[in-house]
Amino acid sequence: MIIKPDATARNLCGEIIRRVEQSGFILRALRMAHLSPQEARRFYAVHEGKPFLDALCRFMSSGPIVPMILEKDNAVADLRTLIGATDPKKSACGTLRYDLAVDLEKNSVHASDSVDNARTEIAFFFNESGL
Ligand code: CMP
Repeated sequence: MIIKPDATARNLCGEIIRRVEQSGFILRALRMAHLSPQEARRFYAVHEGKPFLDALCRFMSSGPIVPMILEKDNAVADLRTLIGATDPKKSACGTLRYDLAVDLEKNSVHASDSVDNARTEIAFFFNESGL
């Protein structure tokens, strides 16, 4: 999971992590990072060619982000339920994005959409030594 720049700018890290922990996820690793637009583009390589990619990379490199490793049975599906739909206008009441997100782009958090992508995304932000 990643806390995005719109949420770090509004001091929502504590609130987001509290909700995640309260929902049964175990926090295994966490850091703060500030991506360049090029690094953001590498992270979002699966969206290459999409019309929103340039703006997304500008946004994701506009301020600090907080990537983390979370552990839970059925973590990928359960986290996506907790955070709600990509577009906060379409997310269910009580989900993290419904309550905290600004709009479709500034939607406060990113969550891996599969176990394979979670592995790739963890490798992107966390190296072997953990330093
Ligand atoms: P995320 O789950 O991080 O995956 C890709 C991101 O692109 C998404 O959340 C949004 O922040 C952003 N985005 C902006 N426009 C769109 C769109 N039309 N469809 C999907 N994602 C979008």
